Amino acid sequence: MRHETVLELSGIRAGYGDTHVLNDISFSVAKGERLAVIGRNGVGKSTLLNTLMGLTNLHAGSIELHGRPIQSLPAHQRAMLGLGLVPQTRDIFASLSVEENLLAGAGKNTSVEEAYTLFPRLKERRKNGGGQLSGGEQQMLSIARTLMGKPDLVMLDEPFEGLAPVICDMLMEVFEQLADGEHTLIRVEQHTELALSFSDRMLILDNGEIVFYGATDEVRDNPEILERSLGLGIA
Ligand SMILES: Nc1ncnc2c1ncn2[C@@H]1O[C@H](COP(=O)(O)OP(=O)(O)O)[C@@H](O)[C@H]1O
Ligand SMILES: [Mg+2]
Repeated sequence: MRHETVLELSGIRAGYGDTHVLNDISFSVAKGERLAVIGRNGVGKSTLLNTLMGLTNLHAGSIELHGRPIQSLPAHQRAMLGLGLVPQTRDIFASLSVEENLLAGAGKNTSVEEAYTLFPRLKERRKNGGGQLSGGEQQMLSIARTLMGKPDLVMLDEPFEGLAPVICDMLMEVFEQLADGEHTLIRVEQHTELALSFSDRMLILDNGEIVFYGATDEVRDNPEILERSLGLGIA
């Protein structure tokens, strides 16, 4: 079976200002695939997602989304072409209500009701300010707001960071719903076991470079890949 390529990166060098954080990054993601990006703290995982979204300085390389070069486009145009980022910082607007936050992420033909169906809790909190939400509710809002743009490639940056297990279980169900074959998911994950259970392929970064990129089954069968790349085994 042939897989449609959604995203293709080639020879990416990127960072902040003149500084390079990422070096020689090339990989591609097929439609419906779930890719986990793992690596120790500070190796460039968030920078990779931010670079895909157009929020860093790209020094070299190309990024194609559905076969179309996007590396020169600003973030909002990438969003219109189907790219959605749920940032590690969950930057929601504290001074706007939940509903206003959702409307800020809306593309064409999206209604807040879709978000409320996915996250009934947000409907209960619709009039509350973003700043009044718990960490879990903020993450729900951040995810829901990104989905309002109708992305087909959704990037999640450590979505469970700092959240209670019951919230993580609930979010996991939402991610499973998104992994429906239509959506493609890239997820940065600190918890290696979660990355292993959720992904089809894994990309391991170290010091801004790819040290492993391949099938998750290969990593399961050869846990020494993790020891070598991360300095730890499977818990
Ligand atoms: N906004 C920024 N400006 C300058 N340097 C940054 C910025 N964000 C991250 N960095 C640096 O880039 C490197 C990679 O960071 P990051 O991509 O956040 O790593 P990770 O997500 O893997 O923990 C780190 O050295 C970090 O200090
Ligand atoms: Mg990060």
